[in-house]
Amino acid sequence: MSVISDPQAFNEENLYVDLRPIFGPSLFLKCEGFNFAGSIKLKAATEMVEAAARDGVLTPGAVIVESSSGNLGVALSVIAASKGYRFLCVTDSRCNLSARLLMEALGSQVHIIAEPDAADGFLGARINYVRALCAADDRYVWLNQYANPANWKAHYCTTAPAIARQFPQLDVLFVGAGTTGTLMGCARYFRERLRPVRVVAVDSVGSVAFGGTPGRRMIPGLGASIRPPLLDESYVDDVIHVEEADTIRACHRLARRGFLFGGSTGTVVSGAMRWLARHDASDLTAVAIAPDLGERYLDTIYQTNWLQAIYGRDVLSVERQSASAPPDPGWRNSQRHDLDVPLEACHQIALRSWS
Ligand SMILES: Cc1ncc(COP(=O)(O)O)c(C=O)c1O
Repeated sequence: MSVISDPQAFNEENLYVDLRPIFGPSLFLKCEGFNFAGSIKLKAATEMVEAAARDGVLTPGAVIVESSSGNLGVALSVIAASKGYRFLCVTDSRCNLSARLLMEALGSQVHIIAEPDAADGFLGARINYVRALCAADDRYVWLNQYANPANWKAHYCTTAPAIARQFPQLDVLFVGAGTTGTLMGCARYFRERLRPVRVVAVDSVGSVAFGGTPGRRMIPGLGASIRPPLLDESYVDDVIHVEEADTIRACHRLARRGFLFGGSTGTVVSGAMRWLARHDASDLTAVAIAPDLGERYLDTIYQTNWLQAIYGRDVLSVERQSASAPPDPGWRNSQRHDLDVPLEACHQIALRSWS
């Protein structure tokens, strides 16, 4: 029995899904969505708020402000409500409606940025807004998940040791990259251990986190329109970029087996399967991290009209063909589809899901 009096005191740390029956190659998926914030971001939020309180930055009357694509905002809402702080979340039109409603239900205020910055995208526009707010009113305290070392330290102290305890023979770890807090915390932890573990970062096509050309990204959580300040690539052994259409297919493939995960899990699983297919992986012990669950994506990733408007009518056809078949080698060569919806139309679709 677990009895708690603070919501952040509960977090399921030892749940893994064996993906062999669904995808073929051996991969254990660590589920981080079972806590009162519904995502891995509860760890970073807890650590950042506790560090700010310890450092005397968070004083009575302070208002926490943070830029978030949704999950950190929900996690900070949980902690702010629990500890009696006010919280303003600055997000953008790609944030899920349910994440916004959750934050408001928990007593937080939400500001939505509708226009991306010409040079730095939505993330740049959100950060500009937060900076202006803090400059104008010193009651605002920006935790700055993008540069705050407490973000990666949370995973160095919790996520990585939990994986090491369950998988002492771990060979390869797949971690999605947003702020890169999860990635850097795990990578630093495993670099210090005697047994080598290959840490593979999984990013979305269109993200510039590891270089590359900026492009349209509609799924929140992973990817960045500016280089993450926390990222130190010397700790990362490999990087895989995943098309959002492949993310969608992985999510639906999992859902058809009863595992409803969020978008970034689809990205990480898709990237991991591609990596495992390219390497001699039959004897490897491999783990991937699933940052959240799928309920927050019912009106996007799991909604046919949204999917077809953004990724084209055929986006799931490859998956449907293979749904009843055993794990298919064709998975490794999954088709690319033209992403032919103009950016403006996508934003309108994303915005419509708010009303
Ligand atoms: C669903 C989801 N996946 C992945 C991430 C990325 O985690 P990190 O910021 O630690 O790189 C986030 C971060 O917000 C997220 O919300």
